[in-house]
Amino acid sequence: MLTFGSIYVSLLVPDKNSDIFEFIMATIKVKDKDFEISIDASAIATAVQKMAIEINRDYEGRNPLFIAILNGSFVFAADLIRKITIPCQISFVKLSSYSGTASTENIKELIGLNEDLKGRHLIIVEDIVDTGLTLDKFLQDLEKFEPESIKLACFTFKKEAFKKSFRIDYLGITIPNDFVVGYGLDYDGYGRNLPDIYKIVKS
Ligand code: XMP
Ligand code: MG
Repeated sequence: MLTFGSIYVSLLVPDKNSDIFEFIMATIKVKDKDFEISIDASAIATAVQKMAIEINRDYEGRNPLFIAILNGSFVFAADLIRKITIPCQISFVKLSSYSGTASTENIKELIGLNEDLKGRHLIIVEDIVDTGLTLDKFLQDLEKFEPESIKLACFTFKKEAFKKSFRIDYLGITIPNDFVVGYGLDYDGYGRNLPDIYKIVKS
């Protein structure tokens, strides 16, 4: 096992006579926990592109307003918006319900919304839907501003953990019910910078 700072990479030598090393598993430590690769950056890019194609098709001539939910969605939002080819706007709001690695079900209020939403076509940009409690409350709050339409673009979805019934209109990747970090997702604030998505190694 080679050590690169806090990154531990397991290597397999397929042939003793060969200089070619093949990566079989990359494990990293984020804060005090081990994580293994789950979705790599190229699979992420493919999924984002697919979502953007659908949104470009559906929102032609509708001037959508993207509303990205901070902090987690900042990486996904930055990737998605740069694949949008129709006129659009983006705004960022904050509502946090999560600390550590278990959903607290403690929903906080929405802050940072300055735009007039009345009559607008909204596309909510979220990094992950877990139980769905956070977005469910947020969607109810948004209805009060009388937008013309609201749709959801969520990059990852923990289908097995989902407790609500709202529809995710644009979905990147359905994931198992494991805690994940990377691509904007964090463990106690760490790991957002990782370009790939990692899942926790269960002990
Ligand atoms: P709910 O359960 O309300 O949770 O759908 C949504 C918010 O919880 C955070 N969350 C996670 N963050 N890895 C993370 O880094 C995860 O596996 C995870 N699951 C939920 C996230 O902020 C999301 O908006
Ligand atoms: Mg989030």
